[in-house]
This record gives sequence, structure tokens and C-alpha cells, in this order.
Amino acid sequence: MPAPPVPDAVLVAARHALDEVPGLPEHRRTTFHARLARWWPDLHAALVDLHGDAAEVVAARLVAVAARGFAERPDDLHALDEQRLLRPDWIQQPDRFGYACYADRFAGDLPGLERRLDHLEDLGVTYLHLMPLLQPREGDNDGGYAVADYRAVRPDLGDLDDLRALATGLRARGISLVVDLVLNHVAREHAWAVAARAGGAEGETYRGYFHVFDDRGGPSGPDAYERTLPEVFPDFAPGSFTYDADLDGWVWTTFNSWQWDLDWSNPDVLAEFADLVLFLANLGVEVLRLDAIAFLWKRLGTSCQNQPEVHAITQALRAVARLAAPATLFKAEAIVGPRDLVGYLGTGPHTGKVCDLAYHNSLMVQVWSMLAAGDTVLARHALSALPAAPSTGTWITYVRCHDDIGWAIDDGDAAAAGLGGWEHRRFLSDYYAGLFPGSPAEGLVFQENPATGDRRISGTAASLTGLGRRRLDPEGGVARVLLAHAVVAGWGGVPVVWSGDELALPNDPHWADEPGHERDNRWAHRPRVTDEVAARRHETGSEAARVFDGIAHLARVRAALPELHAAASVHVLPDTDARVLGVVRRHASGVMVGLYNVSREHRPVAWRHLQEAGLRTPYDALAGEQLTPDADGLLWLAPYAARWVVERQVVEGQAGG
Ligand code: GLC
Repeated sequence: MPAPPVPDAVLVAARHALDEVPGLPEHRRTTFHARLARWWPDLHAALVDLHGDAAEVVAARLVAVAARGFAERPDDLHALDEQRLLRPDWIQQPDRFGYACYADRFAGDLPGLERRLDHLEDLGVTYLHLMPLLQPREGDNDGGYAVADYRAVRPDLGDLDDLRALATGLRARGISLVVDLVLNHVAREHAWAVAARAGGAEGETYRGYFHVFDDRGGPSGPDAYERTLPEVFPDFAPGSFTYDADLDGWVWTTFNSWQWDLDWSNPDVLAEFADLVLFLANLGVEVLRLDAIAFLWKRLGTSCQNQPEVHAITQALRAVARLAAPATLFKAEAIVGPRDLVGYLGTGPHTGKVCDLAYHNSLMVQVWSMLAAGDTVLARHALSALPAAPSTGTWITYVRCHDDIGWAIDDGDAAAAGLGGWEHRRFLSDYYAGLFPGSPAEGLVFQENPATGDRRISGTAASLTGLGRRRLDPEGGVARVLLAHAVVAGWGGVPVVWSGDELALPNDPHWADEPGHERDNRWAHRPRVTDEVAARRHETGSEAARVFDGIAHLARVRAALPELHAAASVHVLPDTDARVLGVVRRHASGVMVGLYNVSREHRPVAWRHLQEAGLRTPYDALAGEQLTPDADGLLWLAPYAARWVVERQVVEGQAGG
């Protein structure tokens, strides 16, 4: 089907916007128009889904935003755009390896990151996610997720020039900067919310940016919505609506009462965020983490998550980014059930048109489930049941992040593995809270909800594996932390290490001491990496050194394995030993079989699994050795061992690796 032509009104809007920037060379205009012809169908289709007959009017606005952003984009970033367009799979290369941290907790401030570059480079980092750094509200701000001004940096971290300099400096070292864009809500102190409260004609306009209800009742008021809305923070922010006296109404607040949900059905909101995307992209941010994206569209009678319009919104924003700053990628932060997850990478008409990256929440949950149970049967079912992701989509794989772990285990998957979903979720929270007999974990229960039985867990990787303050199983802990990282680094996609986990840091016992943190125990697993703490990795034989070096080894081996390209198809072997996870990755550059023993025993793997995958001369890239079966046709895995097996023939006398 031929692509629809770009309507004249849209072309005129583009021309006018480009004219506003004096001295724009002719070749730049040509480029913009070529991109417009290329991405117009994506933009148009998304806007028809969202705005029907008004699609073209909204499109003209967004294209004008894109044209301005394009014209203002610095030359070095235009050059980056060209490079990335020539290599669209840059993010899928096996040398992409991530780290996520709070700039202040890891390095003091943005300029301070300079001093920590050796730490990152030694770890193999090429992708750096800095937690929210834009100006938040004062006081409690949900770790920066309540933004008061998207065009300013948190003053104690630096300013916009520091951010630009950091992005440029990191890029020169091959590290992409990743920053949050909070889409679902703004702080109640944000100018839009302030204007809405001020009333008057302008107030009316800004009231329309939010979901405001005059009263709670009626067929489509807060009470009606709450019948099907899950609570995100039942402990400290029950309900999803907050009364505001100035508004004389109830405003939608999914998270905390001071985080006001935006009304994304309002084209003004879409246009504002299109502009913010390009503002951040033009500072040199390469990946935008779209925070809480699942919640953007509200529909009565549903959980108001994962609505189809969310994907249309993402497609529209991405088309704008492609027009102006195609080097920029989008990452979905959608911590949703396994069946809804793949939609964020694009399925059906959105294939390849929404987010480039999405968190593999299911894999994270299954890693913890396998380690607790010492068994892989549930993980096999769950991971096999995931619909295939498009080959252009890339998972962010991770062991821990700044958030709690919610036990997103599907009842159907549990049943297929002979488990009760509720019972298994209960087992996992008991196990990681250290309440299950024999558990070495020292996690904290986060947001227990008696109504649903939901009981999430906070804790660093070290504290969840036996390396906590009580040191319930330090040896096992080191092995489990490294195995968990091997599973996620060997899955494919961009593995992201959560700050402090590479140093085996336990929970921060003083987490509640900081003002505003006292009720949010997620701060326990957001420890500060002081100079003294960071130096521990140099103490030979220390747990910090063993974990750091182990993770750095994974990054190094990965970077040299073309088989780990993220576009591979991945499937889990259904019939290995129950304590072994076998992951087969097929890519044009070769096959890789990841083998992971999740138990404290030696376990066998049938050699035929490797042969059936097509490996004739199997070689373990992690250990750097050629593999051979024993007399019974078995390969034995040591407790918590990981092997990344590829096809290689080591020539006698030459070292592997
Ligand atoms: C995301 C963040 C989480 C935050 C929430 C609200 O889920 O990861 O930390 O509380 O969004 O912005």
C-alpha cells in the first residue's frame, strides 16, 4: 500500500518552522523533508488512532515542533544521527552494557561523574542511566519522579551546561547517556499544575492538562474508576485521586498525592512532551526512559494500564524524534505482566514503531524465583510463554533496579508448572524477606496489600542472596549474585547493573534517616557509593572485588561474542534437568547456548542439547575452554555455574577467551 502523501498544511507548517531558524543550510531542509516523507505514515496512523478527524491538525503542530527541534539540533548531534541511521542496530550490539545510578549517590553531582569514569569503564559500561536529575519538587519527590521543571537540572547536581558537557564527554568515550522522562505525571508544583490551581481563563486551559473531577460520584467519577484500579502505593498513598481545594475537585494521582497524572487525550499535552523529548535529545541525551508509560491512558472499567492508546502515543512521539533527532531511542518503563510486556516493543501495526527498549521485568522476576526455589520449571514456562519480541526491539535485562520487586508471576504459568500462583508469590516474598526457613535473604517487605495479597520486596542483590549485614551465606551469595548477572547478561539485549550491586553492597541500614525517605524502604537498596566503598573493589579477594571482577568479565566476554546480538531469537530448552536453565539463542552470526545451574548441587546437562542446537565443537566463552562430555554423554555444571556455549575450535597451544 503506498504511503499517504504528506498534506500541504503539514508541509507548510514544516517550512515555517524551519524558516524560523536563520541560516539553516539547504541540505538540512532536504534532509528534514526526506525524513518527513519516511516517517509521516507512522505519525499519521498514530494520530488517527488518538484524535480521529483532528489528526492532521495535531500532526501539523507536532511536525512544526519537530522541524524546530531539528533546525536547532547541534552539528555534532546531527552527525550522530547520520551514524545511527547507518547502523540502526547499534543498541543491539553485544558491547552495549549498562549501569544505572543516582548521580548524587554515585558521584556527588554531574561534574563528579568524571572521577568515576574509571569505575564505569573497568566494569565495561557503554550505557549510563542516571536516575531522575531534572528539577523535582521540594521535599519528598519519589526519588525525583515528581518533576517541577523539565527544563532545569536539580541544582545540587549541576545545571544544563553540566548535563550537556557530561553527555558530550560520555559520548566521546563510547558511553550513551540515558535520562528519565516522566510522562504520566508532574509534581503539583509544576507550572502547569500551579496555573490550573490559579483558575481564570489560563487556569481552565491547564486544568485540561489533568484529569480533574468535580466530585467523586457519577458514572464516570473517581469512585467508578476506583472499582477496577489497582493501588500502586497502598501504604503511603492509598487511592488514586486527591482532593484539591484550589481546584475544588479531585485530581487523578496514581502514585503520590503530589504527582498529578496528565491527561494524554489532550493534544496540548502531546505537543508539550514532543517538545521536551527534543529538548533533552538536543542536550545530547541518547536514550529517554519513558517512566510509568503503562499508565498514560485511562479507560473506565479497566486497570487503566496498557491501553492501546499508550502505544499510539509512543508511536507519535517516536515519529517526532525520528524526524528531528533519530539517534534518540526510547525505553519503556512498563513493569507489567508478562503478556502485556512485548507490546511496548511493538506488535501488530506498532511493530518497530514504538519503544526501542523495554525492561524485561519477567526475566528479572524469574531469576529471583529460580534462585529461591533452586528450580527452573516455572521460569521455563513463563519465559517460553512470552510472545516473541520484534527483532528490532531490545530488552533491558537486569537483576535489580531502584524499585522494589513485584512478583509478576502469571497464574497460568504457575499452574503449568504445577504451582499455585498465589502460593508461589507468597513463598517468594517470604523467602526474600528472610521469613522462609533456611532463606539467606534480608529483604524488606514493601507496600503489603492485605486486600490483594501483594507483598513486594526491597533489597540490594547482595542482601537478597546471603551477602546482607547478617551474612547468612556469603559464599553462596557471591555465587548467586554472579549467576544472576550471567543469566541477564547472556539473555541478549542491554544488561543494566544497578549501582552498588557490582560492589556487593548490602542494604543501607540508615535508609530511613533522610527526610522524606522514612516510609519508603526502596531507599534501603539505593546505597551511596562513597570513595571508600568504591575502593573496595581493589582489595584482592574481597567480596566487592570478586563480584566487580565477575561482572566485568561478563561484560568483556559479551562484547567479543557476535552471537549475543540482541536480534537473535531466544528460546528456553523445555527438557533440561529441572535445576538447569538452558537458553538457546539463534542469530545469523551463530548459535549460543546459555546453561545456568540455579542450585547448590552439581547438575548434569545432556550433551545432545548442545548438538541439537547445532554446536559441533562446543566452547564455553566464559571459562575460555573447549567442552567435552563425560562417558555418559553428560556435561556437569558446578553449583551456580554459568556457561555460555558457542561454536569454536580452539587451536592447540592457543589460549581461549
Ligand atoms: C516508576 C519509577 C518509580 C516511581 C514511579 C512513579 O515506576 O521507577 O520509582 O515511583 O515510576 O514515577
